[in-house]
Amino acid sequence: MSIISGDIEKAAAILCAEDVVAIPTETVYGLAGNIFSEKAINRIFQVKQRPLFNPLIVHLHSQEQLKDIAINIPKRALLLAEKFWPGSLTLVLDKHESIPDLITAGKNTVACRVPNHPVTRELMRSIPFPLAAPSANPFNRISPTTAEHVEGYFGNEIQMVLDGGPCEKGLESTIVGFPEGEPVLYRLGAIPREDLEKVIGKLAVQNTTTASPQAPGMLKKHYSPTTPSVLVDDLKEINSLVKDKKAALLTLSPTSLNVSLVKSIYLSENADLLEAASKLYSALHELDSLKLDMIIIQRMPEHGLGRSMNDRLRRAVK
Ligand code: TXA
Ligand code: MG
Repeated sequence: MSIISGDIEKAAAILCAEDVVAIPTETVYGLAGNIFSEKAINRIFQVKQRPLFNPLIVHLHSQEQLKDIAINIPKRALLLAEKFWPGSLTLVLDKHESIPDLITAGKNTVACRVPNHPVTRELMRSIPFPLAAPSANPFNRISPTTAEHVEGYFGNEIQMVLDGGPCEKGLESTIVGFPEGEPVLYRLGAIPREDLEKVIGKLAVQNTTTASPQAPGMLKKHYSPTTPSVLVDDLKEINSLVKDKKAALLTLSPTSLNVSLVKSIYLSENADLLEAASKLYSALHELDSLKLDMIIIQRMPEHGLGRSMNDRLRRAVK
């Protein structure tokens, strides 16, 4: 029997009983548990096979809850929260003493955001605790953007996926921290860097190749299909790549190529980056399920959400 259900009360009951539920957000589906339940949080790490050194994002139903989660909040963090919450921005702030070490992997900072999905907002209003929720995929795999993706990953291991339809944004939240009081972009995501810079000015970008990254979502390999995948700048490279292989192609917009491909998917009829981002992971899930020899992916334009997509694609092909 399917574990996908739209029953918000049932999801609340499971969470109150200290178990986990997959929940929809506007970015990707998350695997949620009560931040104050050691049992629920351990279960999240266990189901995801996620290393304990990788901290979790705390999801709030409103900005008002922030005072119970974080302290010393910089002015520019508040400006960003005002502008982008509810929404796809995660802020890394000094943690309130009540936040368990298991959530923050022992760090003195906590990542938090107010997600913008009507189903999950209703769920969160009905329970008395915030939710920790990493993306609902096994460690290093592609994030889920539909309830069916989650069921495919964890159907035998969790009680329920709360159905909220396909995720509107389809890329994980953008993460910003304030390590020395100055804003630093830790993870590119569903809110383009340019939009943040309009509010708080120039953002520093964390070096993604350090041995101990601030946000392990910045690890070099992440978000990966199981099929060998390559990223190309120029579609002319495809002929020599395909040879006798069973290959699929993923492009931004429609192409006409004289190459023998098992499947070709484009993300947006008129190269709209918002639409393309929302469909990227679904397309990768679909192509990966074909079990081909190779997935060839066209690099996106290096601006706005194209930059966020390229970030994920670089990690996907490592
Ligand atoms: O869109 C999203 O952010 C989704 C949805 C479900 O909200 N969640 C998500 O969670 O992508 P996750 O756990 O897959 O990625 C969160 C990233 C991880 O790379 C983690 O290392 C980083 O946030 N992170 C969490 N707490 C942190 C902290 N205190 N300092 C720095 N990075 C942190
Ligand atoms: Mg993740």
